[in-house]
Amino acid sequence: MKLARRLAEIQPSPTLALNARAKALAAAGKDVAGLSAGEPDFDTPEHVKEAAVQALREGFTKYTATAGIPELRGAIVKKLREENELDFAPEQVIVTNGGKHALYNCFQALLSDGDEVVMFAPYWVSYPEQVLLAGGRPVVVPTRVEEGFQPDPDLLAKALTPRTRAVIFNSPSNPTGAVLPKENLLELAAVMAVHPDVLVITDDIYEKLLYTGHRFTNIANLAPTLRSRTLVVNGMSKAYAMTGWRMGYAAGPKALIHGMQLVQDQATSNVNSITQRAALAALTGPQEPIQAMVKEFHQRRDLLHAGLTQIPGVRCARPEGAFYAFPDVSAWIGKSWKGKTLGSAHDVSERLLEDLLVAAVPGEPFGAPGHLRFSFAASRATLEKGLQRLRDFAAALT
Ligand SMILES: Cc1ncc(COP(=O)(O)O)c(C=O)c1O
Repeated sequence: MKLARRLAEIQPSPTLALNARAKALAAAGKDVAGLSAGEPDFDTPEHVKEAAVQALREGFTKYTATAGIPELRGAIVKKLREENELDFAPEQVIVTNGGKHALYNCFQALLSDGDEVVMFAPYWVSYPEQVLLAGGRPVVVPTRVEEGFQPDPDLLAKALTPRTRAVIFNSPSNPTGAVLPKENLLELAAVMAVHPDVLVITDDIYEKLLYTGHRFTNIANLAPTLRSRTLVVNGMSKAYAMTGWRMGYAAGPKALIHGMQLVQDQATSNVNSITQRAALAALTGPQEPIQAMVKEFHQRRDLLHAGLTQIPGVRCARPEGAFYAFPDVSAWIGKSWKGKTLGSAHDVSERLLEDLLVAAVPGEPFGAPGHLRFSFAASRATLEKGLQRLRDFAAALT
């Protein structure tokens, strides 16, 4: 069947594909060390589930306003004010099917054919694909592991053209786990300041998963003059272990939020009514479950990072947030495994999965060839098992 031309440019999500393969192997009884997941291995907090049950019992099962129930939008406004020191009116907030959907709506509402969106590599896999789906052009600014993946402000300045409509910031980052220091954010904000028509997108989905000991800070916190043209994207998936519920949100300029709502009106309407009530409980209820999860992730981060850096051929920056380590394994590329040459990180990931039952995502779709992404949202036993297999793999390379 002939499909739309725009699909020709779109890549399937490699993370979803790899997870599906790892899950199929595990279902077939294989002892997989699954280190590819982009989701907490914790359960949704009990009081959040209880709110969903309550909503069902009350028959809260009808359509809601597309942009979300007023109580939830109000809770998001309060959260942004109290935790992030950012002021938004309720009509500047939209509730979406995950942070992914917030970004999708944004690009659909913002971009005309050929408009450019700047992103820093390594980037989250969906940024370029969503821009392409909206007829836009992703413009990639590289960052370097030696510089802690901090974007160079001069490179950002060079990437901005009259066609640029937005720049995406994502700290803590998927896939690197890097957290941009204030000084770097301030330098980048100074570049943005001289481009008043460019939207600042700050994808704060990993804001709670921080191991720096510092408070979370985004570019809008540091540069008040950028606030009126900043879109904050966030959601419940990572912080509240609610990936399957599909709940995210965005807050930003009224006209943009209105445009995003038009897109959502005609595409999906409201987020599941029960999920919205659960999200309300998550935002307004006890926050201790997050702290317990972050504490455990912190220890796992240490375990994985220490283990990876001891493996010959692996160079790995210490992740300061999120739950990913993103080592450079380019020293393995060109080497031989069981008589076959490894031509890319993709080849390495294939061999690790097929021969050693270790699931790790290759770096290419993150715009970072030569890297692998390991998730530490996995039990310590799984991390130890994965590390042992990686050591065996490295030792057997010739
Ligand atoms: C950087 C980043 N942004 C946004 C999302 C969207 O998550 P969700 O749609 O589950 O809210 C993800 C999920 O992996 C992510 O890694």
